[in-house]
Amino acid sequence: MVEISTSILNVKKEDATRIFYGLEVAHTDYFHIDVMDGKFVPKDTTELMKEYTNTVKQISNIPIDVHLMVENVKEFVDEYIGFNPNIITFHLEALKNEEEVKNIIEYIKQNGIKVGISVKPNTKVEEIYKFLPYIHMCLIMTVEPGLGGQKLIPETIEKVRTLKKYIDENGFDLDIEVDGGIKPENIESLKSAGANIFVVGTAIVESNDMEKTIDTLRS
Ligand code: DX5
Ligand code: ZN
Repeated sequence: MVEISTSILNVKKEDATRIFYGLEVAHTDYFHIDVMDGKFVPKDTTELMKEYTNTVKQISNIPIDVHLMVENVKEFVDEYIGFNPNIITFHLEALKNEEEVKNIIEYIKQNGIKVGISVKPNTKVEEIYKFLPYIHMCLIMTVEPGLGGQKLIPETIEKVRTLKKYIDENGFDLDIEVDGGIKPENIESLKSAGANIFVVGTAIVESNDMEKTIDTLRS
């Protein structure tokens, strides 16, 4: 099933409540929360995303999809557990070794939350293979993490195809999420490569009719 996770990273404060209501009406499948710590990526969105997640929780029951672009994964897992998100995704590059990755996976699951692992454009997708049996989702970044409104890097589409093939060959049951630069014009190529959850920020929140844009992306 194709699902749309709307990134609220680029929503301006003065528009926040109106946009969040609009996304509820437009039936986004998830609110995608981009947590950046100013270390793993230059930008720091920690306070803004906490505020936005609070607002979203007050006005909507739509599931929360947390994307942690942070060095200290455990600290932010602890912060977001309280929001009872549907899934928390962390970056493989943020952790030192296999043991740390496995510990975080277990920690998130023990709190009753699904787990995703993300890889940046220059990280080989094969590096997540050993964790696939333990997680619910892989997030393939289709731009360099850190900013909304960038252009999709075409080479990342092949990574999705490679991952999908490996998942099917091994009989795993996993979602493939893609994030960055996704628009009605390029979503089809990612769909046919095997992705099924699409993070879309600016193409939705800056459109005149969010409901129509989401419907177009879904079909
Ligand atoms: C980038 C973020 C994305 C991004 C999506 O680091 O993870 O979620 O904000 O926004 P668009 O769709 O504008 O690329
Ligand atoms: Zn994201």
